[in-house]
Amino acid sequence: MTKKILVTGGAGYIGSHTCVALIEAGFEVVVVDNLVNSSIESLRRVEKITGQFIRFYRGDITNKADLKRVFEDHNFYAVIHFAGLKSVADSVEFPLRYYQQNVFGTLCLLEAMQQQACSKIVFSSSATVYGEPASLPILETFPTNPQSPYGRSKLFIEQIIDDYCQAEKQASSIILRYFNPVGAHPSGEIGEDPLGIPNNLMPYICQVASGQREFLSIYGDDYATTDGTGVRDYIHVVDLAEAHVKAVDKINQVDQVQWFNIGRGQGYSVKDLIQAFEQTNGIRIKTSIQPRRDGDIAEYWADPSLARQELGWKATRDLKQMVKDAWHWQQKNPKGYEE
Ligand code: NAD
Ligand code: UD1
Repeated sequence: MTKKILVTGGAGYIGSHTCVALIEAGFEVVVVDNLVNSSIESLRRVEKITGQFIRFYRGDITNKADLKRVFEDHNFYAVIHFAGLKSVADSVEFPLRYYQQNVFGTLCLLEAMQQQACSKIVFSSSATVYGEPASLPILETFPTNPQSPYGRSKLFIEQIIDDYCQAEKQASSIILRYFNPVGAHPSGEIGEDPLGIPNNLMPYICQVASGQREFLSIYGDDYATTDGTGVRDYIHVVDLAEAHVKAVDKINQVDQVQWFNIGRGQGYSVKDLIQAFEQTNGIRIKTSIQPRRDGDIAEYWADPSLARQELGWKATRDLKQMVKDAWHWQQKNPKGYEE
């Protein structure tokens, strides 16, 4: 029988790519999303790519009645939990909103799962829970020390899920700590659609390339890195989506909770990313060196070997593919899903 997966936040950037990967792997997908940072058009595009209908509920995970309705209509094999707010800067300005949406929202979700005896959850955590690492690459066993309310909300949720899985015999969870997801589906149908001025590097580069922004600010060229600019572990969003399918495949063999780093295990600098974009896509990116951005860490990348050993997952798409697919999506959808 086809296994049904509830995807919270499934209309978002990573959620929509994961819906494609799940459907292609033979799962049935149900999405709940309040569309606070996404558009229903993303799911129409997922349907276009996969040729499958997606059952969608416009609902809020902090609203227990919304969740009750979803769980009463379906029997889920597992939940993949993406829904939440993700801006580090906003979380500093509006911490209560972040704890309400992310932490309380997850409590409501776990309660709804408990009531319906749905006991498996894959959770979207972030490398931001590690804070500044003492050494590289980062292993799952490294101490956690998040530096923002957003990062702390992720760590609190991890701990709540852990406590829940210790208490409930049937419950199990896989917690994925993503490094820096970028790129888009190669079809150019779905991709990242930031509201307003992008905070993150890849969407900003794309908007400079398309002429929507004049130049890219490089935040600091005096870090102790290969070329002085910040270094990150960029991972193609389709590789990331595939990690979720592997997690769902594995979850009934997990005893309580397992944590995995999801990255490529390779660091690239801001200048590396710009150069790869320019060479692959044949477009020059105008840049301007600016002071360091508050809260930025010089460099970090993952050791993803645990995910390879235990999930049988490995990222296969390189930096060239990431910048190619990001630009393809941007060219096809200059105004995101708005058009
Ligand atoms: P996104 O904003 O595109 O997707 C999140 C989705 O959740 C959106 O569709 C939004 O409308 C929905 N949502 C938010 N609050 C909700 C609520 N209360 N009820 C129902 N739906 C709600 O973000 P994304 O980049 O796809 O990230 C997905 C998850 O992965 C998030 O939890 C994020 O914190 C985490 N994550 C993202 C990154 C990244 O770089 N994008 C890195 C690490 C972790
Ligand atoms: C940020 C978040 C992280 C989140 C991730 C993806 C912080 C401290 N961390 O990571 O929690 O998971 O986004 O949403 O905010 N850069 C520029 N110019 C720009 C934008 C970025 O030079 O216009 C540089 C940054 O200084 C950094 C690198 O590019 O060195 C990557 O930045 P970004 O894409 O914002 O990701 P992170 O800061 O790593």
